[in-house]
Amino acid sequence: MPKITIAANGQTYEVPEGTSFLEYCQANDVTHNFGCTVGSCGTCVCALDEGAENVDPPSEDEVETVEMCSGVEGARLGCQLKVNGDITVRMLD
Ligand code: FES
Repeated sequence: MPKITIAANGQTYEVPEGTSFLEYCQANDVTHNFGCTVGSCGTCVCALDEGAENVDPPSEDEVETVEMCSGVEGARLGCQLKVNGDITVRMLD
């Protein structure tokens, strides 16, 4: 099963392939900041230190939101991530 690693504390979680990062965090008290949960506020912006290829590519709307809230190359919105393989997530705000 894919593994989520939270860079800030090193905690890892095994999840079924295709899991929503947002839904998993909310259901399991995983530390990550969320706001709107629909990809428009940028609160959940993060970097994938490992496994960027293991999530679905960003939609145009996600790319626009990321450009507004982060200058980090390859940043993603945690609320939009579907986990297809191992990833390491680092909050950016
Ligand atoms: S929680 Fe608002 S963009 Fe992800």
